[in-house]
Amino acid sequence: MSHKPLPVAVLFSGRGGNLKAMALSAENGQLNIAIRCVVCNQPSAPGITHALSHHLLTHVIDHRQYSDRQAFESRLMEALDNAQVELIILAGFMRVLSDDFVNHFAGKMINLHPSLLPKYRGLDTYSRALAAGDRQHGSSVHLVEPELDNGPVIAQYRLPIKSGDTPESLAQRLAPHEHRLLQAVIALFADRAIQVKSRQVMFNGQPLRQALLLDHDIHWPINDQEQIE
Ligand code: GAR
Repeated sequence: MSHKPLPVAVLFSGRGGNLKAMALSAENGQLNIAIRCVVCNQPSAPGITHALSHHLLTHVIDHRQYSDRQAFESRLMEALDNAQVELIILAGFMRVLSDDFVNHFAGKMINLHPSLLPKYRGLDTYSRALAAGDRQHGSSVHLVEPELDNGPVIAQYRLPIKSGDTPESLAQRLAPHEHRLLQAVIALFADRAIQVKSRQVMFNGQPLRQALLLDHDIHWPINDQEQIE
């Protein structure tokens, strides 16, 4: 069944690699989404260039220009409410959001996090995985709930850790797979195969009991332009 493009917003703070991957896939018809707006809280973020080069409605909302978190979030909320999106995608958005904000968009917001949740919520996930002697690391896409990095996990990608890996080498190897993971999940939302009902993730009409694994349960091709090791 074909659906109308899913209206989405993308929030980011830095490089914008995931935003770029999504914008390209939306343009070439691989991903059935309409990026209604993009929000970045860092005026110097390199990703803003991607947003502009793909002609996306771009709001730069610098949190430092607001007196407090509530004022910043009310501007953010206004931009997102105006965009009338069905899915808000946090793709490297590095601000913690208040419970009120998260509850306002309950069931509509997903986050890409660079760890195999529930391991390593928060920052420095690569160095924490290496320090713990883990044999694999990875990335998760989860529904956003008020507690940081704690909503139900929708899908994951697992990456073997090699001897000699550093936080940088892990991050570099993981990045193209994160792009695939996030897009595979968004495609499920766009197909309405994933729906959220009363904060429960439903997959093909059934409650999702276990995170979907990329390259096993769900799939997304490797983009020609990505460097995969
Ligand atoms: C990604 O690695 C993502 O997992 C991470 O930020 C990066 C964004 O990359 N997200 C978090 O750390 C969220 N806590 P990008 O700007 O190139 O898309």
